[in-house]
Amino acid sequence: MASPRGEFRSRLGFILAAAGSAVGLGNIWGFPTQAASNGGAAFLITYLLLAFVLAYPALMAELLIGRHTHRNMVMALGSLPKRNALASLGRLTGIGGLITASMILSFYAIVAGWMLGFAASYPLSAAGMASTGDWLVTFSSPRNLALMLLFMILTMAVVLGGVEDGIERWSRRLMPLLIATLTALALYVLTLEGALTGLKIYLLPDFEKVLSGDLLIDALGSAFFSLSLGVGTMLIYGSYLSDAENVPSVGAQVALVDVGIAVLAGFLILPAMYVADARGVPIFNDAGGLLSEDTLIFTVLPALFETMEGAGTWLATAFFALMSIAALTSSISMLEVPVAYLIERHDLSRRNATLLAGGVIAGFSALIVLNFGTLFGWVITISTRYSQPALGILICIFAGWLWQRDALLQELKKNDVDAEQRLFWKIWPLYVKWLCPVIIGVILAQSVL
Ligand code: PHE
Repeated sequence: MASPRGEFRSRLGFILAAAGSAVGLGNIWGFPTQAASNGGAAFLITYLLLAFVLAYPALMAELLIGRHTHRNMVMALGSLPKRNALASLGRLTGIGGLITASMILSFYAIVAGWMLGFAASYPLSAAGMASTGDWLVTFSSPRNLALMLLFMILTMAVVLGGVEDGIERWSRRLMPLLIATLTALALYVLTLEGALTGLKIYLLPDFEKVLSGDLLIDALGSAFFSLSLGVGTMLIYGSYLSDAENVPSVGAQVALVDVGIAVLAGFLILPAMYVADARGVPIFNDAGGLLSEDTLIFTVLPALFETMEGAGTWLATAFFALMSIAALTSSISMLEVPVAYLIERHDLSRRNATLLAGGVIAGFSALIVLNFGTLFGWVITISTRYSQPALGILICIFAGWLWQRDALLQELKKNDVDAEQRLFWKIWPLYVKWLCPVIIGVILAQSVL
């Protein structure tokens, strides 16, 4: 091996890194409006339930396989089954994960670049450089290209530092900053006129809406994307986890932080939208639903900040910096997937592996920028709607069917002699074996049909 394997220095470092991977653009631009439009607190409770009933077991499958093998996804899944044909299927699944993680990064870097552009544009405009500020927030290929490259360079710089000095160190710095900024912004916005209406819409439960099947399936899908499942990011982070840690418990903490931050984001986004409404900014689409996702972030909120004059500059800068941070702690986990593979399987140094994987992904991302209309939506659909759940099923099958029960128990016993007595051992193995593949299969079939 070209370099010894890294390992997270502390439990907190691991939790912040894995939660950093999970907490991303999805938590902030998707979850709050989805909740508000679909039954408020009732959706919130359902989402929480689904996250723990379905996404958590799948998360555990990745973390446990990673920790057991201490290898990248390709070699890890290739080493679990005894039979050769199945080992090849494992390696193939790993390659699928690696390609999907790279595809996700290639579109994520473009959107994250926009966040960087918006974050910089407000202080620049305030300092009198209005034309540069405008260029940064106006859609154009040169801007998209430049900001995407900047974001990829930041991502590569962190990954270059390795597990302890790159990923763990930066997650430890950025995640507390993210939580503090989010909390401060929410507290400020809650003092403004109109905020309480938003809060009510967010929190008043309407159980009728939640019981619809479509909605459950949507919530399930976003829980899956939100926890970064299926593409080997959690597997590789698990592989850097010390044998002394109790995986079921740290995994639960990661899921809690992810869901907690999504819920916290609701306390900022919904009140902010109704503050905007009170100031005459349109917040509903033609169908009467709340504007969401990119329109919310790049149109509604900037229009709100505009109504605030001086305070708006600060607020906008802090908000887009927050989005950039959330994106960066996710993107480093995506890049680590191919980088770890290149280091362990092809003996590359971390430096060369990072340059090669980062370079290829940036190249692909540039291709998307230059063919935005055709490629952007397509890459998102293929990677997140189809590939991620399909790989998720395969990972559950590897954990539930192709990993010997004794070996699995030994893995859990590494740090817990009573593992056999735990509820986790009584439920989880059956769960990943039967329920996870079936439920994820239903979601997948639903989105294919
Ligand atoms: N969980 C991240 C988000 O919510 C996205 C992600 C998907 C990250 C897959 C890594 C792997 O934005």
